[in-house]
Amino acid sequence: MAVTLAFDVYGTLIDTNGLVTALKKMIGAEAVEFSRIWREKQLEYSFRRGLMQKYENFALCTSQALEYTAASCRVHLTRDNHQELLEGYRTLPAFEDVQAGLNLLQAGDFRLFAFSNGRADAVEELLVGAGIREYFLGVISVDDLQTFKPDPAVYSHFLKKSGGTGEHSWLISGNPFDVIGAISAGMRAVWVRRSPDSIFDPWGIEPTLTVKGLVELHEQLTGINDKMT
Ligand code: LAC
Repeated sequence: MAVTLAFDVYGTLIDTNGLVTALKKMIGAEAVEFSRIWREKQLEYSFRRGLMQKYENFALCTSQALEYTAASCRVHLTRDNHQELLEGYRTLPAFEDVQAGLNLLQAGDFRLFAFSNGRADAVEELLVGAGIREYFLGVISVDDLQTFKPDPAVYSHFLKKSGGTGEHSWLISGNPFDVIGAISAGMRAVWVRRSPDSIFDPWGIEPTLTVKGLVELHEQLTGINDKMT
């Protein structure tokens, strides 16, 4: 059975800090910290909306998190600045190892899907913009269920829609909360740890595999696949 790979999008394929240069022009030296808070708040809003069962799509979480971040950093963003940043978020760049890694994986015995909190149309636009849409058999979004990762229902939904089984399906994610969510829902999961500064939550649930990037992911998964067949 071909192994199914569920690629998380924001923070795994696509760099959510890709607007730091644009931010520097708007707000100067605080851009890096601003970008970090924006991302954290966006995820917090998704978690809270999931728990409250008051779903609004991920793009709204992103927009409201931007508003919060500006207030918290005491930065004045004009309506045009806000609009420009949200436009930019729709075409964020891919991490530099992504194209090479996907190329290798697609040529191997793997079925590749994108699996995201983002709505399918937003994810399609991002992947096309980054020049990597062609590697994926499909885009599967939590929007179908109107809830967010790490609700176990979204991982089951992925398996159902991709036609994979938990044993033969791996989530690939740079986000520890996503890795823990997938394992706890019965999938295998790889943590993509691009920076040695990233910390994995000490919950006693470990990633099935940890890699530094997608080229190493191909190497490791091919090794595992060879042993299983
Ligand atoms: C995603 C979130 C985790 O792409 O950023 O699903």
